[in-house]
Amino acid sequence: MGFRTDAIHAGQAPDPTTGAVSVPIYQTSTYAQDGLGQNKGYEYGRTQNPTRLALEKSMTALERGAGSSAFASGMAAETAVTQLLLKAGDHAICTQNVYGGTFRLFDAIVGRYGVEFSYVDTSNIGHVRQAMRPTTRMVFVETPTNPLMQITDIEAVAEITRNEADCRLVVDNTFMSPYLQKPLALGADIVLHSTTKFLNVHSDSIGGIVTVADEEDAERLRFIQNAAGAIMAPFEAWLVLRGIKTLPVRMEAHNLNGRTLARYLTSKKTVRRVYYPGLPDHPQHGLAKRQTSGFGGMITFDVGSLEAARRILERVELCTLGESLGGVETLISHPATMTHASIPPKERERLGITDGLIRLSVGIEDTEDVMSDLENAFGD
Ligand SMILES: Cc1ncc(COP(=O)(O)O)c(C=O)c1O
Repeated sequence: MGFRTDAIHAGQAPDPTTGAVSVPIYQTSTYAQDGLGQNKGYEYGRTQNPTRLALEKSMTALERGAGSSAFASGMAAETAVTQLLLKAGDHAICTQNVYGGTFRLFDAIVGRYGVEFSYVDTSNIGHVRQAMRPTTRMVFVETPTNPLMQITDIEAVAEITRNEADCRLVVDNTFMSPYLQKPLALGADIVLHSTTKFLNVHSDSIGGIVTVADEEDAERLRFIQNAAGAIMAPFEAWLVLRGIKTLPVRMEAHNLNGRTLARYLTSKKTVRRVYYPGLPDHPQHGLAKRQTSGFGGMITFDVGSLEAARRILERVELCTLGESLGGVETLISHPATMTHASIPPKERERLGITDGLIRLSVGIEDTEDVMSDLENAFGD
């Protein structure tokens, strides 16, 4: 089936008992059993839930994987991936300007269990190759990166990891969604999302999901989901399922607004630099064109100083100042003090996450309204 058809129907067949076309929210902790060892495939809510299962089937179809497991947040999904792949003595490689929470998880928690991380510019394949060790078990790539919009060539990294025993390539696909980028088709082993963002889209739930290419990984991940227990709740799964139905049309709208606003920002005198893969002067515009079917709605721009950034962030009215991204409403944020505050200032400076950076998650409002809000905020 085509992507638009799968977004509406995969995993979401009418309910077998009532015919309800919307998958019901199975708000139950346990299930009546017919007799000892006899059940209908459901025993306990942490282990199985039909609403969560519907979402997992939907995402398996959209990411073209072997299986998916849904978690309580994007971070819980990432934690499960580390539990799947890493143990004491292992080494892992991670994209250097990754989401701050990912860095915090790896650096302050997983690192304490005897796993060593190298943070490298994965957009440079030579750097990835150099960082590989015999003990490397995971290469974790975020592409595009948050907030500098650097692109990693997934196929090229997959070529490296494929030749290493037991090393998996994991892609955080949160910024793109499976509509714009399909990492498993490009050779990645595992793809994950914070469903909090483009998949749920209405800015009203927190969740995460992992889809894997390999059946055994799918089985092991389900074991971890049940054993560690950081499951997605049925209501959140229902919200994400509802969001996914309109994913293709929304991503087209984010994409269109993103391209128009990125071009507009390049025309502003106060803006020193615009980071958007859809602009022809983005250093990896060609790769982005090849690897994705659109450039999405995430734009970062630099206005030179904290004062200039503060002025704009305090003057916007339609754009909502807040953390998060991927909502129907345009969200504006300041990476250095918000999403990336957990990265030490020296490291932020080295990565290029300056105090003048502003990140825009372009929603699906009328483009002219967002543009005139920004125009008022620039005040020039
Ligand atoms: C790229 C990316 N990955 C993962 C996460 C973590 O997701 P959550 O907030 O749902 O735990 C975020 C959150 O902002 C993110 O931007």
